Amino acid sequence: MTSSFDPEKLLNKTLVSLPPSGIRKLFDIASTMDNVISLGIGEPDFITPWHIRNAGIRSLEKGRTQYTSNSGLGELRSQTAKYLKRRFGMDYNADEILITVGGSEAIDLTMRAFISPGDEVIVPQPSFVCYGPLAELAGAVPVYLELKTENDFRLTAAQLREKITSKTKLIVLPFPNNPTGSVLEADELKEIADVIRRTDAAVLSDEIYAELTYTGKRHVSVSSLPGMRERTVVVSGFSKAFAMTGWRLGYAAAPANIIKALTKLHQYAIMCAPSASQYAAIEALSEGDGDIEEMKREYDHRRRLIVDGFNSAGLTCFEPKGAFYCFPCIKSTGLSSDEFCRRLLEEQKVALVPGNAFGSSGEGFVRASYAYSIEHIKSAIAGIIRFVGSLRK
Ligand SMILES: Cc1ncc(COP(=O)(O)O)c(C=O)c1O
Repeated sequence: MTSSFDPEKLLNKTLVSLPPSGIRKLFDIASTMDNVISLGIGEPDFITPWHIRNAGIRSLEKGRTQYTSNSGLGELRSQTAKYLKRRFGMDYNADEILITVGGSEAIDLTMRAFISPGDEVIVPQPSFVCYGPLAELAGAVPVYLELKTENDFRLTAAQLREKITSKTKLIVLPFPNNPTGSVLEADELKEIADVIRRTDAAVLSDEIYAELTYTGKRHVSVSSLPGMRERTVVVSGFSKAFAMTGWRLGYAAAPANIIKALTKLHQYAIMCAPSASQYAAIEALSEGDGDIEEMKREYDHRRRLIVDGFNSAGLTCFEPKGAFYCFPCIKSTGLSSDEFCRRLLEEQKVALVPGNAFGSSGEGFVRASYAYSIEHIKSAIAGIIRFVGSLRK
């Protein structure tokens, strides 16, 4: 007798109904092909600077292979607080920092710490793919806010005001933005903070690209504006600024009472972030400012090259001011984002990510990462120029 027992039916219904990340779809196809030139992945092509790797190695040599305290090494937390002050003028003590497994874990913890079933979470889009799904899994209703092309995908106070209701629990501020490269200037943030201060909502400010801005001005954290610190969780990490994606290390910075709640979740779910990564991160924060500047200079060079490349292919590309992505418009080709990326991959073996993977307002755009070498970017652009040319014949 065969059993009709179907374990899949036991799975959480919200989880089952969530689509997998749209970033992956095309890369599954690309992985079956040879010699694909990809501008698809959002991670630095740099190897973690040697002195940082060496600090991780040294910690292993010394046998530091045990759990650390749940919140992370005391030295790392105080270095993080010093770093935030030195680089961005942010005021946090060591006990207001929680070391997490990537910025990703800090985002998940923040969602779960604040959300009760039925709460609303405002998620501006296009943006990184995890906010909406994690909010839903925590029982919230994600309220998507469509960032507009005419504002270069920056959030305006008026747009935010329209989405706020009595159920708004959390507002995600995803700037500098993946995938658009847009940043918020201090005066724009101030207007946004004026709106938020009139609500009972908390803020999840994802500042993982804070080091990578090309405006000539330092990144401004919403948490440093009057009345915002007490309601904001700043999420950041080591992956992007220090080329440390595989070390899986990030942090949340927030007032101690919020950090205490996040730590409770982290303690049950994770225990602590990887020890060797934490030792390496102490070195990154204390001796790594020069590495950041060097990598940033290189990204800036690549940024100019790629934007010029897209524009010369006839695909309008506004200037990305942060992170390491550009977000050119492909509407002039008459193709959808999915068709454009699929055909570009099939016909020229160049992989980009369809803009709609980051929310419906990304339709008509594609994301290209410039965390690749100049040669690599040039080859990809040549393929894109050939592809767009062939459509016009
Ligand atoms: C905007 C944004 N936030 C957070 C993350 C998560 O980074 P990690 O978990 O590697 O720190 C990413 C990674 O791509 C990202 O683009």
